[in-house]
Amino acid sequence: MRPSSSTHRPRLARRCFLPGGLLFVGALAALPGCKDASQNSASSANASSANAGSANGSAAAPSASASAGQPASSGGQVAPAYDASGPEIKIGAYFSLTGDTATFGQGSVKGIQMAFDEVNKAGGVLGKPLKLIVSDTASRSDQAGTVVNQLIYQQKVLAVLGEVASSSSLAGAPVCQSAKVPMLSPSSTNPAVTRIGDYIFRSCFIDDFTGAAAAKFARTTLKAKTAAVLTDSANDYSKGLSRAFLDEWQKAGGTLVAKQFYAKGDKDFRGQLTAIKGKNPDILYVPGYYTEVGNIAVQARSAGITQPLMGGDGWDSPKLYDIAQAQVQGCYFTNHYSAQSKDPRVVAFVSRFKALHSGETPDALTAVGYDAALVMADAIKRAGALDRAKLRDALAGTKNFAGVTGTFSIDANRNAVKPLVILKIQGKEGQYVTTVNP
Ligand code: PHE
Repeated sequence: MRPSSSTHRPRLARRCFLPGGLLFVGALAALPGCKDASQNSASSANASSANAGSANGSAAAPSASASAGQPASSGGQVAPAYDASGPEIKIGAYFSLTGDTATFGQGSVKGIQMAFDEVNKAGGVLGKPLKLIVSDTASRSDQAGTVVNQLIYQQKVLAVLGEVASSSSLAGAPVCQSAKVPMLSPSSTNPAVTRIGDYIFRSCFIDDFTGAAAAKFARTTLKAKTAAVLTDSANDYSKGLSRAFLDEWQKAGGTLVAKQFYAKGDKDFRGQLTAIKGKNPDILYVPGYYTEVGNIAVQARSAGITQPLMGGDGWDSPKLYDIAQAQVQGCYFTNHYSAQSKDPRVVAFVSRFKALHSGETPDALTAVGYDAALVMADAIKRAGALDRAKLRDALAGTKNFAGVTGTFSIDANRNAVKPLVILKIQGKEGQYVTTVNP
């Protein structure tokens, strides 16, 4: 276990400007061009005084699992009203730009920035450009409360986009909820995230849907009878998805032959894999994130497990193929979109993105980030004013939004209802297999 920081103060608060006028502010920044905020005396938003204005700082980052399903107490500090007199609309974003899930945050920010640039080129929202202020969680849920506090109380943003990892969103959301600052996660799928309160939204589906779809697919299409599940017990997403998979697996008459656990950051999975190998399952469900999943795939093949591995959106990273390209061939995962879709909206999005990023194919994080940014822009427009309560209501009223990840509405639980895709890995990408509608 890593020692957790005893206060919610970032070890190093930095600000930097990225290409395209993107302001970065956050803990543990490791990007070129960044300097310590303390060196920037001209800064009115000095990020090194991170917790000024957050009297409720101690409540900012609860342990992720403790918050599951429980609405946050409303006893926190409501943020001062948004200052609408500025030349831009400041939107905060908290994502993992460094650390174990760095590609999640990097992909998300690329998609969000592309959407904001397009909106701004078309005249902005309510006559003003959108300005993205990004903060790095360093892939640590214990940093999420701190960086969200900074975005709200130092950067004074209108609303917040983020995080990807559900454990980080579960830590950041209570800060937004107490402050009454709308938060929209593009990609956190654990059901508990939006239960934090009425200011917390997501523009993606939830794990109950994807876990069940994976189990049905394994039973019906792959004809699997026995399954083993390998869960990251330090990850709310992995735990929730395992549970959803198993509920449906059992309903569908499948047999669970092994249930094993690991924890984020582990490198050696041989003990668990030896136990699983002994049970000879038809399928091994591994709903984790790409770094550990890659290592698990390599060690599973070494242990003689030849059956397909299956997982969820947490597999979607180019890094998975750097770690385990050979070992994940023919494996399946559920995801938010397929870059191979023939939908004209997706085709146009993929080609615009490739033109901007030297031919790179946008991953699912980029696609959901892009859609979330446009949902936010659309809601600000419908709110008709830079007012957080009105923006909250407008987000709740999102109906039939035509995104690159499908056409969707936000339901009464502040979740998006939308289709998923199942992909089969061939080479360095997931080939589209099928779409599952909600
Ligand atoms: N759904 C994952 C979670 O909630 C995050 C994720 C989304 C990862 C999309 C990859 C792609 O933790």
